[in-house]
Amino acid sequence: MQYQSESSHSYFGGASSADPLERVVRLASGSAVVIFSVSTCCMCHAVKRLFCGMGVSPTVYELDQDPIGNEIERALSRLLGGGSSVPVVFIGGKLIGAMDRVMASHINGSLVPLLKEAGALWL
Ligand SMILES: *[C@@H]1O[C@H](CO)[C@@H](O)[C@H](O)[C@H]1NC(C)=O
Repeated sequence: MQYQSESSHSYFGGASSADPLERVVRLASGSAVVIFSVSTCCMCHAVKRLFCGMGVSPTVYELDQDPIGNEIERALSRLLGGGSSVPVVFIGGKLIGAMDRVMASHINGSLVPLLKEAGALWL
């Protein structure tokens, strides 16, 4: 058996498998609700509390506690069209955005249906 290091080529697009953007997409589709966070960021705590309060258990990646957190953060920033605003929230593998977008969706009632659709909420 042979183990491949994270940076080695895979069948998916060769060297681009090490592309942080691709990693973001893979991580983001790994569970119903995924939050990219920084452990010292207030808004990140707030968004985690919001989801937990709704009975949703998000998967949280703390970028400041991850060896490739910086790369992931740059990729997220690119994905959001510049600017680095954690938390970045994905629901059902779909980019929602930062705290402002999550709150806006919560207020206009589109957040709960999204969560249900993603299988994060049943009730
Ligand atoms: C609710 O707000 C979100 C975030 O701004 C937006 O993407 C969505 O289209 C809105 N939905 C409705 C039904 O207004």
